[in-house]
Amino acid sequence: MTQRINPAPTLTLANGVEMPQLGLGTWPMNDAEAAVTVAAALDMGYRLIDTAENYENERGVGEGIRQSGVARADIFVTTKFNRKWHSVDGARAACEASLERLGLDYIDLLLVHWPNPDQGRYVEAYQGLVRLLEAGLVKSIGTSNFKPAHLQKLFDLGLVPHLNQIQLDPYHLRDDLVAIHREKGIVTGAWRPLGCGNAMLTDPVIAAVAERHGRTTAQVILRWLTQQGFVATPKSSNPTRMAQNLDIFGFTLSADEMALLGTLDRPDPEMFDADSFGH
Ligand code: A2P
Repeated sequence: MTQRINPAPTLTLANGVEMPQLGLGTWPMNDAEAAVTVAAALDMGYRLIDTAENYENERGVGEGIRQSGVARADIFVTTKFNRKWHSVDGARAACEASLERLGLDYIDLLLVHWPNPDQGRYVEAYQGLVRLLEAGLVKSIGTSNFKPAHLQKLFDLGLVPHLNQIQLDPYHLRDDLVAIHREKGIVTGAWRPLGCGNAMLTDPVIAAVAERHGRTTAQVILRWLTQQGFVATPKSSNPTRMAQNLDIFGFTLSADEMALLGTLDRPDPEMFDADSFGH
């Protein structure tokens, strides 16, 4: 039987749209896995689903949404498009293609997936998103993996994304970006919030905090992110862990615990650099 968890609280994007603070990441699910997992997640209480053209699972995500018993209006769908669509007309074509694959008639949040500065057309891509917002095909718009210099190019034109989704967790603090986001009223989205299930989940500092609260390290990390006002989209295909990841709003980390998790940042030579990596 499906375990039911209270839906996550929402926060308000700069244009007034409400977005759940905790959602399901879907990379690297294929269509079949996404259909089953998204339906289960929605039935469990998830209301935010994060996908991308590049994940090649938007059809499965759409199938899962239709299979679930949850009304479309109560679901928040984020997707993202690739570099080949970086133009005003391209963004429209990318949006229409995602809508077709998802089987939806609007997207809640559409993101430029990577800036791809070598191509130098992310500003045009974002201008395309503004048109889509005006046309009502998307409810909110943003960027992903944009670094300060990329955001600045948008700011120079008076453009401010509603959200910038970046790799962010206790080992990757991204303080420079978070400060800019706060100053500009941009919501911070955290991808790979659990470090892809790596050593962070057995970190002794995080484990000690988890033990104090009778929670898991994953729950403490997700609580730490959401308590700062970030949106987190952990991926799990396992019903027990999916439930665990959503069930993080019934405890509070103290100021000292929040600060402690903020001391764990470390260099990561394998981290993707948006100035050289992108698709
Ligand atoms: P699984 O799908 O088997 O649960 P991220 O979102 O940071 O990329 O992390 C996703 C990875 O972490 C997946 O391998 C996922 O595996 C695993 N994972 C997700 N939730 C938890 C959890 N609560 N505890 C341990 N591992 C988890």
